[in-house]
Amino acid sequence: MNFINVERFTPKLIAWQKKQGRHHLPWQLNRTAYRVWLSEVMLQQTQVTTVIERYQAFLERFPTVDDLASASVDDVLAEWSGMGYYTRARNLHKCAQVVMNQFDGIFPSDPEQLESLPGIGRSTAAAIAVFAYGKSAAILDGNVKRVLARVWGVQDDLSKSAAVKELWAHAETLLPDSSEDLITYTQGLMDFGATCCTQSNPACSVKGSMTCPFLNACQAKKLNIIQNIPLKIRKVKVSKVDMNWWVVVRDGKVLLEKRAHQGIWAGLWSFPEELSLPVGSDILDGKPIQHLLSHRKLTIQPKLVALKKKLPKMGDHLSWVGFAELDKLGLPTPVKLFLKDLNLARDGA
Ligand code: ADE
Repeated sequence: MNFINVERFTPKLIAWQKKQGRHHLPWQLNRTAYRVWLSEVMLQQTQVTTVIERYQAFLERFPTVDDLASASVDDVLAEWSGMGYYTRARNLHKCAQVVMNQFDGIFPSDPEQLESLPGIGRSTAAAIAVFAYGKSAAILDGNVKRVLARVWGVQDDLSKSAAVKELWAHAETLLPDSSEDLITYTQGLMDFGATCCTQSNPACSVKGSMTCPFLNACQAKKLNIIQNIPLKIRKVKVSKVDMNWWVVVRDGKVLLEKRAHQGIWAGLWSFPEELSLPVGSDILDGKPIQHLLSHRKLTIQPKLVALKKKLPKMGDHLSWVGFAELDKLGLPTPVKLFLKDLNLARDGA
């Protein structure tokens, strides 16, 4: 990789951010380490619009790192419900406990120490160090990799660690010298990648869109290879999984199962996948649901059960849950959607 024109990139990005970047996101106000950390973890795999909707409620439920550390993991999963990638919620809880027990309740400011905490990778550690403590540290998330690779025409396979290592080194050389510019620059990288140099339809390829400040300098634009960068050869393998959901509703309660600590939706509540039913129960097949996870495509067949007798045995992990209690549980999105349908059916009955 031949990295040129470094001095032209950073000031241009800072100027772009001041004019066209985002300045009113909820986590940009009152930048405490707790608030910044929470927002960065939420934003790792959830869209900004969804995080905006969920951030304030999470903070109201757990106003401090101490409140979060002393909550049960089930309460944290319940508040996270619907945002997916639940390992983040479990790590959030663990991380809060480490901060309380090993750092006297104060997040460290050193990026390397931050990176040693559960759920904080190198780029998230840098973002927290910059936004909460004004430290000089480079971020390199998916959006930033794309921006740097396009501007400098990097056509290497970015699923290879050698290529990413070079981008990290490059990201570090681009950091502004003045500490005053660090927050603007870092937010600028994020905002530019999210709103201008997007994966599909970047501003340079859409007439009447915002103007890219690197239009004349961008190697990918010059070589007309924007759509080929970033190059990713290794694709995530998605396997197909079929499952049944046994849907049993009785006396305003629904039968749910606390899922195992390993596997899909670990520790969340869903419909049982296996159930011993009393002889003579009526079973109706509902409309199958498709749901895509990062590595799996689920086809879920709901089995609607009309119970005529009590269930013969109730395992420890099964529980009858009243409709009013459902919001207190961590529920995967398709379970929520399906319950909503059931609820409507019940209301309309
Ligand atoms: N994505 C990751 N961190 C972000 C932030 N602080 N603001 C906007 N988008 C982000």
